[in-house]
Amino acid sequence: MQWLGEVDDQTTLEVHRVVSAVVALGGAVGWLQIPTLVDIGQWLGGWRAAVTTKRAGLVLCRVDGQIQALGGWQAGREGAMGHVAELTKVMVHPGTRGLGLGRLVVDTLIDRADSSGAELLTLGVRGNNHGARALYEACGFTTWGVLPNGVAVDHHRFDIVRMSRQLRLPADAVIHGSRAGGVGGSPARHDE
Ligand SMILES: CC(C)(COP(=O)(O)OP(=O)(O)OC[C@H]1O[C@@H](n2cnc3c(N)ncnc32)[C@H](O)[C@@H]1OP(=O)(O)O)[C@@H](O)C(=O)NCCC(=O)NCCS
Repeated sequence: MQWLGEVDDQTTLEVHRVVSAVVALGGAVGWLQIPTLVDIGQWLGGWRAAVTTKRAGLVLCRVDGQIQALGGWQAGREGAMGHVAELTKVMVHPGTRGLGLGRLVVDTLIDRADSSGAELLTLGVRGNNHGARALYEACGFTTWGVLPNGVAVDHHRFDIVRMSRQLRLPADAVIHGSRAGGVGGSPARHDE
């Protein structure tokens, strides 16, 4: 496993190879069409910039020296959501699935987000992506919500399933949940 550092041509080529193969099979990873090499170069440049904040990372998983899987994590903007980190773009080349690489990528992302101090991990997965959902469940995530019809592919509509995993809570955390009261609360008129 290697964290994205400087983006060179070889890395761009290899990541493009993985993303292209995943998207060619209809993989739900955020591209509706196979991206160009330039697209991937720009995308990796965005990750490179995010990585310098130390609040994000893209992990590249190599087998026999070649990138076969990848995935990213990104903490929320500093402030009220800064303790929440999102896992994203988890994918494994179709030729190397079922070997544990997906699990390795997700576990590596969890470890890094954990050591960066994240309290809560979130991710989104297309509802019909039962394989990925099983992977995330195997890695300790549970479903907290479903956005019906949140993904559009031509005239098809799919749910977005949102999942989370709590990593830690500060010892002095006061859990308000959704009860009325507390900072930012407001009473509903019928409660007054
Ligand atoms: C989802 C994906 C990343 C899984 O990668 P993988 O390397 O095949 O997964 P692993 O071999 O590490 O599987 C680990 C565990 O996840 C679960 N799992 C993974 N794929 C599964 C599937 N198709 N069906 C059921 N369980 C699955 C299983 O619990 C598995 O453990 P097991 O092999 O002991 O049963 C891969 O299929 C992929 O790249 N899909 C396309 C892109 C995508 O959908 N990414 C997720 C976007 S949210």
